[in-house]
Amino acid sequence: MRPHHIRDILFTREQIEQRVKTLIEEIAGSCEAENLVMIGILRGSFIFLADLVRGFEQHDLHPRIDFITLASYGSGTESSGSVRILHDTNENLAGADVVVVDDILDSGCTLSFAKDLFLKRGARSVRTCVMLDKQAKRTVEIKADYTGFPVEDVFVVGYGLDYDNRYRELPHIAEVTFGEQDR
Ligand code: IMP
Ligand code: MG
Repeated sequence: MRPHHIRDILFTREQIEQRVKTLIEEIAGSCEAENLVMIGILRGSFIFLADLVRGFEQHDLHPRIDFITLASYGSGTESSGSVRILHDTNENLAGADVVVVDDILDSGCTLSFAKDLFLKRGARSVRTCVMLDKQAKRTVEIKADYTGFPVEDVFVVGYGLDYDNRYRELPHIAEVTFGEQDR
């Protein structure tokens, strides 16, 4: 890990809570409930997906839930462009209406890989849901169906997002500043 510190909070716990609540309503108001499968991309989506589905019961949504572990990053902060499956899903996706959940849409490689994969496996529809959208970094054309917040081209951690698998536990989303501590 490079010398770094976590400084500015970009989204507080309260802002995230509020936005997640409205995302739940967006999803509930527009998705096909019958054969709904929520698929979280690990590891970054685990907190976001858990928060989303805890709001589903009041909308009478009872999806199947699954996960896939995909890797496109090494331990650095730049996307490598190629995506690998480290652990696959278990659910039968034939005819399913899938909502893929990820922490952040960056280059777009990960989410478009997942979307294509689930369509190839027979899903009837695949929608995408991300907490953050770092639009400046897009190399693959993809737009999420549900987005929490747009974010500038900075490296962020917290609420599931990591730097070298650290800081996922932060209840807020904060910017990582690289370089020696200046005080
Ligand atoms: P993409 O394939 O380039 O869109 O990258 C998506 C993945 O990169 C996400 O699932 C994150 O794990 C990771 N990622 C991209 N930007 C950041 C960031 O600012 N902080 C932490 N992880 C990030
Ligand atoms: Mg990550």
